[in-house]
Amino acid sequence: MDAITEAVRAMYTAFPYPSGAPTMRQGNDARVLLSYGARARPPGRPLRVLDAGCGRGVGLIGAASLQPDVEFLGIDLCGAALAEARAETERRALKNVRIAEVDLMSLEGLAVPDGGFDVIISSGVVHHLSDPVEGLTRLANVLAPHGVISLMVYGRHGREALYRAVRAIDAVAPRDLPLEERLRIGRALVATAESAALTAGPWSDMRAVSDVEFVDRYLNVHETSYDVPGLFALIERAGLTRLRWVEPADWDAAALVPDGPLRELVAALPPERRDALVDSLTWRPRLEVVLARAGNAPRAPLDGNVRDDEPLAWNPDASLRVERRNLRDRERVEGLALHVRSRDPLPIANGPVALALLALERQLAPFRVGDLVQALAQRGVAAPVARAAVLELVRLEAVYRPHPADLA
Ligand SMILES: C[S@@+](CC[C@H](N)C(=O)[O-])C[C@H]1O[C@@H](n2cnc3c(N)ncnc32)[C@H](O)[C@@H]1O
Repeated sequence: MDAITEAVRAMYTAFPYPSGAPTMRQGNDARVLLSYGARARPPGRPLRVLDAGCGRGVGLIGAASLQPDVEFLGIDLCGAALAEARAETERRALKNVRIAEVDLMSLEGLAVPDGGFDVIISSGVVHHLSDPVEGLTRLANVLAPHGVISLMVYGRHGREALYRAVRAIDAVAPRDLPLEERLRIGRALVATAESAALTAGPWSDMRAVSDVEFVDRYLNVHETSYDVPGLFALIERAGLTRLRWVEPADWDAAALVPDGPLRELVAALPPERRDALVDSLTWRPRLEVVLARAGNAPRAPLDGNVRDDEPLAWNPDASLRVERRNLRDRERVEGLALHVRSRDPLPIANGPVALALLALERQLAPFRVGDLVQALAQRGVAAPVARAAVLELVRLEAVYRPHPADLA
């Protein structure tokens, strides 16, 4: 094991990440992730997900609890964190989770399933590797041809204020001091220094965070961070291709400038320049992308010619908030909002779209476009309007398009 990896391991062993109880992490549904890629998986075997750098298993255990028919393997360098993840797995009696100590820089001892993993999730890990390109390339090599990687790495621009604090702490508590000593001095500095600059941007909670979070953020022994061109270069060097941002709406450059000549100028930029522009104009401390192997590609979007037998399913990362009022003789829906992943709930004002969402409120199994068009016809919606509403549900990600192997 190289010296950087040893140092990272020692730090996370002393401060296993994160503190607190496991939570459900949004955006980790394996079938939804796979639906972003054009390549379909072969039918007939369970889905296999690798959480690469699972830490204490916060995302792993949350995702596995929601997807009992999917096989999860969590790996990490830090035995202390894995022991806690294992204990939590046992407490919850999860039968679909395995946990193993594996170094991402070698993947030695990793049990790779036949044909590779369908999905690899790696959140907040690759930027701590001694060689992120090599680590990500190794993950790409154990990914199935149709597989996808959901990757989160630190955003350089969004962490500028945080790095200011790191530099301040480095100045008073040099890196060769023991970690506990640096923690004591660092906490005292940020708790008492007169500095609005330290708490600008999304890091204003720096005084309140736990020691584990403080070490991870401000005293980390090894991390790199990425701007958009840097991230795209990392992806390309690892032999991977981009399917989408996890939250495409966050990367809508046009929404950041007023309508008119400036928006036209922005719209005419090549996509990568537009993404870089958004990165420069916003506080984005995390860059979250969905990747695939070269040869795979983003799924072609549905258009107005969508077939009636096109399968759809409710997005498990979406929920409806329905405000109902009971009148004397009937129930009236007063308001409707769609909540997808951690985005702000979106109020739905369009009548046919609202009707379509309500028609799906208790829908568990996948269905066909034609089923929903028919359900809307029974509520008086004409077929072309109903089809437009269904396409809007796909665009809003209330529903997704499972691949054939995921219909059973
Ligand atoms: C910030 S934590 C993120 C943990 C988890 N993904 C989460 O979101 O809660 C980073 C994790 O990466 C792990 N890690 C760092 N370098 C690693 C390596 N070379 N191999 C395996 N795990 C590594 C650390 O042990 C730590 O648990």
